[in-house]
Amino acid sequence: MGSKPARGMMVRIIFYSLLIAAMVSQSSGIRVVQEKEQVTKTAVFAMGSFWRAEAVYGCITGVVRTRVGYSGGSKLNPDYHSIGDHAECIEVEYDPKLISYERLLNVFWANHDPTQIFGQGPDVGPQYRSVIFTQGEEEVKLATASWDSEQLKLGKNEVVTEIQPLQAFYSAEAEHQKFELRQNSSLFQILGEITNDELIASTIATKLNGYAAGMCTPSVKKLLDTKVRPFLFNRSRLEEMFSS
Ligand SMILES: *[C@@H]1O[C@H](CO)[C@@H](O)[C@H](O)[C@H]1NC(C)=O
Ligand SMILES: *[C@@H]1O[C@H](CO)[C@@H](O)[C@H](O)[C@H]1NC(C)=O
Repeated sequence: MGSKPARGMMVRIIFYSLLIAAMVSQSSGIRVVQEKEQVTKTAVFAMGSFWRAEAVYGCITGVVRTRVGYSGGSKLNPDYHSIGDHAECIEVEYDPKLISYERLLNVFWANHDPTQIFGQGPDVGPQYRSVIFTQGEEEVKLATASWDSEQLKLGKNEVVTEIQPLQAFYSAEAEHQKFELRQNSSLFQILGEITNDELIASTIATKLNGYAAGMCTPSVKKLLDTKVRPFLFNRSRLEEMFSS
């Protein structure tokens, strides 16, 4: 008789330990999923031609995606031929575990002339002005500090780069996204059939766009050379395949 409540107790203990085990494994399962998810941030810059700016950032390790567009003005729905008072911009999506905002700022300063008013080289006009578009106080602080050290470095040459909060960002037309990659048909065809949205979202296209423009550092270029080569059209390989 006395065994019945004991068995009941045992069943209950087993039940609760299974329940706890299930909860623990479930909660750790959730944690694993969260760790695997990439938490990215975006940064926006204007530094002359957005074709070139997109290629510059595409090669940088830790940059996940890039997108060109218009910002900094008041015109609603600007486009390439009717940009209004906006500047050509690059939106950089990056993994903050791999690259810092400070490092993105260094890339910004190193890849254009921040003393040229309303233009970059042969590209003249306010749409090519130099701007850091900030999102939040932390970015304002870092952007201002980097502006100060750039000015210190340039001495008498006045830095004309503006720092302003990001308002609307208007994505540019499809033909301007990954422009450098589009100019190299043998590289572009590696991606196969691809929609414009897929092209903007593609990390591979982001890297190849910088690669196509010859903007990658020697080590990144070498890595991409080996990855890309097997996919490039190769007549001698094709002839080998036909002859065997
Ligand atoms: C396209 O890119 C490939 C790989 O970098 C290069 O070998 C080739 O010269 C490029 N073609 C053009 C037209 O730029
Ligand atoms: C093209 O294919 C040939 C034969 O397979 C190979 O020897 C050569 O290295 C390839 N060229 C490139 C640029 O990959």
